[in-house]
Order: sequence, then structure tokens, then C-alpha cells
Amino acid sequence: MSNAPPSLLTVRDLSVSFATTRGEAKVLRGVSLDMARGQIVGVVGESGSGKSTLATALLRLMPGNLLRMTGEMALDGTDLLTLSPARMRALRGARISMIFQDPMSALNPVFSIRTLMTDVQRAKTPGASRAQMHARAVAMLDKVGIPDAAERIRDYPHQFSGGMRQRIMIAMALLTEPDLLIADEPTTALDVTIEAQIVRLLEALRDNTGVSILFISHSLGLVAELCDQVVVMYAGTVVESGPADALFARPAHPYTQALLACEQSTRDQSDAKLVVIPGEVPDLTRVPTGCIFAGRCAHVMPECRAQVPALRSAGPGHRAACFLVQAPSQPPEAAP
Ligand SMILES: Nc1ncnc2c1ncn2[C@@H]1O[C@H](COP(=O)(O)OP(=O)(O)OP(=O)(O)O)[C@@H](O)[C@H]1O
Ligand SMILES: [Mg+2]
Repeated sequence: MSNAPPSLLTVRDLSVSFATTRGEAKVLRGVSLDMARGQIVGVVGESGSGKSTLATALLRLMPGNLLRMTGEMALDGTDLLTLSPARMRALRGARISMIFQDPMSALNPVFSIRTLMTDVQRAKTPGASRAQMHARAVAMLDKVGIPDAAERIRDYPHQFSGGMRQRIMIAMALLTEPDLLIADEPTTALDVTIEAQIVRLLEALRDNTGVSILFISHSLGLVAELCDQVVVMYAGTVVESGPADALFARPAHPYTQALLACEQSTRDQSDAKLVVIPGEVPDLTRVPTGCIFAGRCAHVMPECRAQVPALRSAGPGHRAACFLVQAPSQPPEAAP
């Protein structure tokens, strides 16, 4: 019998394309992932790899130039792709919450924190009194580490620092008691000390509430620290996925290896200059045949340009889409 925890979110072969002046941009192609309850799953990849598109696709918050969205996405068995707009709206307020990179753009500046935090509760608990909603909001602000929460709840977003605003966003997202919290680069605008605090906070919230978190980040270091599972995206596809410890200890895809090497070199530089993978991300209106990473890969072979490599096993629960991937050999049976 399998001991795998039951899946909360299942995404199968998700493809998304947008209409652009250059033609159809195939921004996500055949993305699959699974998330168990209480798991923190990291999504990493360079800018433009499709991380935010995946997040907004899960919420069905797509821009007007969406051309096609196919595949399967299910939250706890509810098909997210075919849900009516009204039911999807209800689900967004109640079961999936999102925290964005820039809390200022998501917190309406003309309302006090108390009003903002009362409004998010209305959909979930329509029968609750103002006093009850106020008490819950103060308790949640306290939980995410806002000092003097009972006083500060009367303040407006601009009266808080960036780190505190991010905490307020997280508190608002959690007030609806979601099953799934999507955090799209939630710490990019913050300094490293505050970043570390927010990461600890997300970890504690998962431990205390059992929420599942999809954590999107440029930072492999943060993902390694926080996440149970990792999905590596490149140019709209998943090139590698697996348990965080195995994936970071033995990255199997040349793209993941290159990302890790760049992050290490950036850390080692005295001038803090960002080291990047040489070459350019392919134009998604003209997706090349073969492996999507072939044009930048240090190990490219002729077959890589002819055929898309399927995901292959690189170890237990660990898979990578590369012809060079080999499953680690089993340890020899103990002699009798
Ligand atoms: N509405 C749109 N129309 C056309 N192309 C789009 C649209 N939204 C995103 N894209 C393109 O899709 C690709 C993926 O974008 P996305 O924002 O999902 O990447 P990302 O991984 O979140 O990047 P970043 O790390 O910079 O946030 C990019 O090439 C982007 O230009
Ligand atoms: Mg993004």
C-alpha cells in the first residue's frame, strides 16, 4: 500500500497560450504537478519561465488575451478548469488564497486594515458579527507577528513597513482558512532579515494550520530551506521535480544544475553581480522542436534537437526531462 499523503491539488498536462502580436505564445506546455495537504511546494525558474502564469491559471485569473487553456486542474477532486465563474469566485475567497510580491498594490490604501480584514471574512462567514470578525482579525494579526495588533488594526496600509504589509497580506489570506495558499515571490521586495522572518512564519503557519503552500521564488536557497517538494520550470515546462533534499543534493537536469551553479557563483562574487546562464530563453511563439533547453545546454546531443525528452526517474519521486538522466542504481542486496 502506498504511504503517499492524499493529494490536495492535481495538475495534469496544463497548457496555456496567449494571443500576441507575434502570434500564439505557448506560455505553459504540459505542466503537471501534485501537492499533498500540508505540503510546501516550491516553484523555481528564471524570469519568464511561467511561474506566475501557473499561479494565475490555478486561480483562473487570466488576462484578456488568453487564447487556450487545456489540461486538468483539480483541488480536492473539484475540477478547477470547468467550474462556473461564480463557483470559481467563491472558491478563490474560501479555499485558495494568494499573496503577491507587492503588498502595497494588493492592499487598498483608502481602507483601514480593520475594514480590509473584515471584508475578506464576509464571504466565508456571512453570519459573523462585526465584533467576531474584529476579534478574529486581531488574533490573526497577532499570529503573524504584528505588534500591538489591537491598536494597529485601525491604521492604514501606508502606515506599515514593507515587511509588516507583507505580514498583513498573509494574515488576510489566512483569515479565510484556505486549503491552498499561493505565494508568488512573497519576499522579493523585502530585505534578507525580513525575508527570513516571513519564511519562518509560513513554515509555522503550515505546521499550525495544515495549509498547503505553493511557494514561487527566484531563490533556490529559500526554496531549499522551506519546501518539501520542488518543481523546476523552464520556458513554460516542468523540466525537473522531486523532494527538495534529493533535488538539491543531486540535481538531475542540466538546467537545474546551471541554475544552482549560477546561484552559487552569485553568492561567491564580491560585487554581488548576478551570474546568469548564458544564452536566451526561446521565443514562446516559435517553440523549437526537441528539448526546450537544448539551445543553452552544455551537454546537448543531436537527439535533443529532434525529440522532446520525457520525464525520467532520477530517484524516488524525483524526475527530470533529460535523455542523460539515469535512475540511481539500487544498493546491492545484503548478502545472506
Ligand atoms: N498576458 C500575456 N500575454 C502574452 N504573454 C504573456 C502574458 N503573460 C505572461 N506572458 C509571457 O509568458 C511568459 C511567462 O511569464 P510569467 O510571468 O508567468 O513568468 P514568471 O516565471 O512568473 O517570471 P518572473 O520570474 O519574472 O515573475 C513570459 O514570456 C511572459 O512574457
Ligand atoms: Mg512571476
